[in-house]
Amino acid sequence: MPFANLDLERIRAEFPALACDTVFLDNAGGSQVLGRVADRIHHYLLHDNVQLGANYLASRNAGDRVLAARRSIAELVNAVDDDEIVMGPSTTALIGTLVEALRPGLRAGDEVVVTESDHEANIGAWARLAEVGVVVRIWRVDVARLGLAVEDLDALIGPRTKWIAMTQASNILGSVNPVAEVARRAHAVGARLCVDAVAYAPHRLVDVQACGADAVVFSFYKVFGPHYAVLWARRDLLLSLPSLNHFFIGQDVLPYKLQLGNVNYELSYGCAGIADYLRDVGTELGAVGDNRSRMQAAFDAFARHEDDLAEQVLGWLRDRRGVRIIGLPSVTTGERVPTISFVVEGVMSEAIVGRVDAHGIGIRFGDFYARRLMEALGLQQHGGVVRISIAHYNTADEIRRLLIALDAAIP
Ligand SMILES: Cc1ncc(COP(=O)(O)O)c(C=O)c1O
Repeated sequence: MPFANLDLERIRAEFPALACDTVFLDNAGGSQVLGRVADRIHHYLLHDNVQLGANYLASRNAGDRVLAARRSIAELVNAVDDDEIVMGPSTTALIGTLVEALRPGLRAGDEVVVTESDHEANIGAWARLAEVGVVVRIWRVDVARLGLAVEDLDALIGPRTKWIAMTQASNILGSVNPVAEVARRAHAVGARLCVDAVAYAPHRLVDVQACGADAVVFSFYKVFGPHYAVLWARRDLLLSLPSLNHFFIGQDVLPYKLQLGNVNYELSYGCAGIADYLRDVGTELGAVGDNRSRMQAAFDAFARHEDDLAEQVLGWLRDRRGVRIIGLPSVTTGERVPTISFVVEGVMSEAIVGRVDAHGIGIRFGDFYARRLMEALGLQQHGGVVRISIAHYNTADEIRRLLIALDAAIP
């Protein structure tokens, strides 16, 4: 049975930036930050900022805080163990690190599969493996269905496939991909799966075990936190990788061997505020049980609210002459996050965004670094898509304001 609905006034009070009059609908670009995350970063820098690893009390306290934060992130993603959690500056950098560590274990003729619909963060590093003779196969989008068809994968994988890299939700199409099914097919041929969960994590509770992947990466600046990111990977996989760190930090030293130098202590500590927030929202909605059950209740309520708002936008776009929605045209529960892209016949996307901007509404246009998808769908002629991306803290009133602005902006 669903819990109570979100108390939006209470939710919005958690995000100090929302007190201004701007309507933030570029959340897939970057979400607003929780006040409690910013407070934690501030507190850490002013009261705990010493180098970790020493015996004196302040250093031990700081070490405890950073470790507790890693544990909190492990819980947020449902990792079996917190030493499977590698922290880093961005998703792009962490996928780069993973691929660099994999590189010595790959041979010419080994194969990797990348998709045509991903953000470049989960394509480029894999594609560069071609330099060492790895065969890079491309999982093309099904242009008619505007998405990836799992049946198309079978022709691309076989005994030489080592890795498949794909996104859990597209940052353009908004569609949620069946990663568990892809993981099953990958494992059936002895391959592994790397999932970019950046566009998924603000809308659904990440569950690295249930999704079946071998590595999952996302960035906290899309999930109500700072510019910082996490790579989870299975313990056995991590242990099989060489150390990229100093020679005396051995292959068995998880996760330090893949965290070059120090991690960012204050951002690590700050990010624990995200899981706290989700747990508290779930508790207020009436959820009981362990922290993840409460977080799940929060995300269930987010999804119901986001679906309502997204359907209002999609319905409006569906009815507007000359508009082409680039993605699923309606909310079919579970299959879509509220990231909505469209183009307008004969109009450059930049022009529409410029007109909406005048209403104090933040949306944006472009390829969003999913350039290969734009090319596959022939959307460069519009200068990319217009993208409206909703977060759980957006209100029906903000969507009304958006639709008034779009009405004036679209001829
Ligand atoms: C789906 C997706 N993956 C990856 C990234 C890149 O994340 P980062 O900037 O942390 O490298 C983005 C950023 O927009 C994204 O939307």
